[in-house]
Amino acid sequence: MKKLFIIANWKSYKTETEAIKWLQEFQLSNFGSSPEGDKLPISNGGEGENKEIIICPPVTLLSPMREYIDEHTLPITLGAQNISPFDEGRYTGEINGKQIKEFAKYVIIGHSERRDNFDETNELLVKKVAMANKYELIPIFCIQGKETNIHIESGIVAYEPVAAIGSGNPDTPEDAQKIAFGVKEKNAALAIVYGGSVTSENVNLFTSQSAIHGVLVGGASLDPQEFSQIIKNA
Ligand code: PGA
Repeated sequence: MKKLFIIANWKSYKTETEAIKWLQEFQLSNFGSSPEGDKLPISNGGEGENKEIIICPPVTLLSPMREYIDEHTLPITLGAQNISPFDEGRYTGEINGKQIKEFAKYVIIGHSERRDNFDETNELLVKKVAMANKYELIPIFCIQGKETNIHIESGIVAYEPVAAIGSGNPDTPEDAQKIAFGVKEKNAALAIVYGGSVTSENVNLFTSQSAIHGVLVGGASLDPQEFSQIIKNA
């Protein structure tokens, strides 16, 4: 069975109270009151299981979400949305790899919203990837499709064409498949996911493409019912 990564990117949304409410509702709609009797084919990445659920919340939510997930043994993995290009030190406002590693397994690097709003350059992204590698965080490296150099050797590449992000106009599954093949041709070790206006209605069009190993979901992941439906339909 093909492994799928269903990744939620919460961007700059949700307070701690809202995040815990999301987890409670997600837990209730998928597992009843407890994760015993798992109704979803989801996993924490174990052998033979096919869907890994990764939530990338704002960094303030990593600790309380980690606590809730552990306490209720939910099959959810956490990721950060950003990482400092520096190690610990005099870098006011930065969150470094060692700090992220306490709570998360993944880190999104190079999202177009960071490239556009915070002037993140390829040179900077290379440093961020190096920090992710140093702390054994798995990068979810975002590309727009025109890149020739992907900058990571292992991990996940998210193909997210800018025009498809938050627009309600996803790219075609065929385009996504073509990009995925192009990336895999250069590096077969990378898993390619698609992102940009993914919903429960269209998710399967992408995940059924042979070279696509999941989705990166923004807006539609903020609602626990819709996100649960995306997991079911993927
Ligand atoms: P969207 O965002 O699902 O809201 O289009 C995707 C992303 O930016 O990761």
